[in-house]
Amino acid sequence: MNRPTMGGVPAVSAPAYVQHQKLINWVSEVAALTKPESIYWCDGSQEEYDRLCANMVKTGMFKKLNQAKRPNSYLACSNPSDVARVEDRTFICSESKDDAGPTNNWMPPAEMRQTMQGLFDGCMRGRTLYVVPFSMGPLGSPIAHIGVELSDSPYVAVNMRLMTRMGKAVYDVLGADGEYVPCVHTVGSPLEAGQADVSWPCNETKYIVHYPETREIWSFGSGYGGNALLGKKCFALRIASTMGRDQGWLAEHMLILGVESPEGKKHYVAAAFPSACGKTNFSMMIPPAAFPGWKVTTIGDDIAWIKPGKDGRLYAINPEAGYFGVAPGTNRSTNANCMECLVANTIFTNVALTDDGDVWWEGMTKEAPAHLIDWQGKDWTPAIGKETGRKAAHPNARFTVAATSNPVLDASWDDPAGVPISAFIFGGRRSTTVPLVTEARNWVEGVYMAATMGSETTAATTGQMGVVRRDPFAMLPFTGYNMSDYFAHWLKMGETITALGANQPKIYCVNWFRTDADGKFVWPGFGDNMRVLKWMLGRIDNNAGGANNVFGITPQFSDLTWDGLSFTPEMFTQITSIDHAAWQDELVLHTELFDKLQHRLPSQLSAVKATLEASLVK
Ligand code: GTP
Ligand code: SPV
Ligand code: MN
Repeated sequence: MNRPTMGGVPAVSAPAYVQHQKLINWVSEVAALTKPESIYWCDGSQEEYDRLCANMVKTGMFKKLNQAKRPNSYLACSNPSDVARVEDRTFICSESKDDAGPTNNWMPPAEMRQTMQGLFDGCMRGRTLYVVPFSMGPLGSPIAHIGVELSDSPYVAVNMRLMTRMGKAVYDVLGADGEYVPCVHTVGSPLEAGQADVSWPCNETKYIVHYPETREIWSFGSGYGGNALLGKKCFALRIASTMGRDQGWLAEHMLILGVESPEGKKHYVAAAFPSACGKTNFSMMIPPAAFPGWKVTTIGDDIAWIKPGKDGRLYAINPEAGYFGVAPGTNRSTNANCMECLVANTIFTNVALTDDGDVWWEGMTKEAPAHLIDWQGKDWTPAIGKETGRKAAHPNARFTVAATSNPVLDASWDDPAGVPISAFIFGGRRSTTVPLVTEARNWVEGVYMAATMGSETTAATTGQMGVVRRDPFAMLPFTGYNMSDYFAHWLKMGETITALGANQPKIYCVNWFRTDADGKFVWPGFGDNMRVLKWMLGRIDNNAGGANNVFGITPQFSDLTWDGLSFTPEMFTQITSIDHAAWQDELVLHTELFDKLQHRLPSQLSAVKATLEASLVK
């Protein structure tokens, strides 16, 4: 990598186990620019984690929760202006604007570097710079990659320990000259001499910057989630997607789950849903009681790195090692496995605090506790909530927990070779139009479905909620290059699989979110999504029925297993019907997307659209 260097800065001293001189030089340069009070090299130990957490309790950034009710767990509450990813402040600074494409914010790298240089000058004054080495993927896996994050946030350091394989062992893999992705992060809130800190430092000005050609990340001004935990969206999706484009693999916003039938036949599937649309939930779903012997196990809940093997099959790993999941809506009846993850050793961000030092969020229990301290530190009662509309937990409140806390973690979750993928599932949040499940008839049709997917926006994105926007492959905010090139890359991957003599995974489009006239979800969702998953597996193994419609193959009522659920054929029709007029309007939106992406758009996709248009009854 030909990254710009400043040169001539005094070298900082590193622990003896850090043998990588270029890395030490880089830390020295960043320290010379950002001017921290001290530098701390994280080793990733439990002792270190406990110590950093205890320090944050002292400074007010963390509250320690009731040790009896929620052992070794903490609550952080952010500044109200820093609660989610900031898509309008996220930049892909490739040399050419065309390589970022029309769906990304772009600035010339040289210009952005100048802006960053100004912002980062002295930005860590009065703070500690934490050096956080991490591996995305099992250490030493041929699919894994290494990153090092320099951050002035101890919150980032401890979250990275839960979210990634973080610590000393990374330096053994790196050796003296191994490749790593440099990630620089600051909350952008220097402390002048004697100035007291606040519980959640951040800056109104925010920049989440990626240089795909030199594989660098610079993040300024936010301490929250994907803005600050740079291994996640910035590295594992935006930078990794460009690596995948160049090297012939895929970095996707997908959960990976294993599903085993009572006969012991096991498949792995990967599913892409936009932010806060049910990936975590699906990845640890509990099949209905009427499905005895069916087992669902988790490989990952948010991101998948997928490479073709020599046999042509696609092998996937979860580059992460923990979950940064949406708290609101999670409860014992919809997602008991997820609740089980959270019984201890968890960092909660922006949930409410109960009077006995535990946590609560909307949807955790039917009845809210009589009194809470809300995520903004204010008194909250059900009456206040009703009166003011104020939520006790922020709708994008999150938990951070290690994957090893998951009671249904798949035995192969840490396998460096990855797991073979039998199917891809794409789904959005759509109250109308999109049916429960459709199987693409071929790879190109599947890529079209994923490319034109729409979803109602959620609290995971700042801005207006609930508006339908196109979110191709659930990757709109995460593709680090031109979206049309990304579509072309997917088409090419399909050809690679065939050329290597393997069967292409099947591709499905799902929608759990169709509503009735009262705005209620018709489909029960959660564990009952198993009914749809079972049908898919039946299709893969050639023993489930289906009928052709305009878009692909869909199950008839009798093709799904209904044991243990009273769901009528009329309700089924409500969530599977295809309204031709509504779909004509929908296709206008596909056309708008394709117009926007026209430059470099693969012609195969336009051809699928033309066929669809012709088959809709006028
Ligand atoms: P990110 O971490 O933002 O990428 O989100 P995610 O896709 O992992 O979302 P998650 O599983 O955390 O779900 C977010 C919200 O969707 C929660 O409030 C869930 O209760 C709700 N949800 C999940 N699955 C279903 C479902 O099958 N049906 C319905 N109606 N809601 C669901
Ligand atoms: C998402 O928004 O898709 C997330 C949460 O998974 S964050 O890590 O904040 O991006
Ligand atoms: Mn996500």
